[in-house]
Amino acid sequence: MEILIINGPNLNLLGKREPEIYGSESFESYFEKILKKMFPEITFHYFQSNVEGELINELHAKGFSVDGIIMNAGAYTHTSIAIADAVAAIKSPVIEIHLSNIFAREDYRHVSYLGKHCKGSISGLGLKGYELAVRALMK
Ligand code: DQA
Repeated sequence: MEILIINGPNLNLLGKREPEIYGSESFESYFEKILKKMFPEITFHYFQSNVEGELINELHAKGFSVDGIIMNAGAYTHTSIAIADAVAAIKSPVIEIHLSNIFAREDYRHVSYLGKHCKGSISGLGLKGYELAVRALMK
């Protein structure tokens, strides 16, 4: 089984960025030390970019072949119709994820343009959400 994880803008700073909201571990450390070891049978692909078009290009490149995509679009979640359209256009199921509980934060974070096109959404469970998303895609 092949799963693609896509992290959007500012998620390269996890661990350093507002740790009171996003935690003190980097995604790379969690990915290498925990997630990959937890699911040795899964082939993971990982892509991070701060650039909207690059996120769309990656959805196009892998979204017709991988078995599932876990996407944290960061702030583009709340602004990007283009990313939402890309999620709607591809065949692989997408699970939307957010480390923080976007519904407990500012009003502008309560809206997700891509959520409508996703198989499901996970919000507020920190890095553990990625593990739960993998389990959901395995079912
Ligand atoms: C986020 C929530 C977004 O509102 C924010 O812009 C992010 C991270 C999260 O993982 O909680 O960059 O997607």
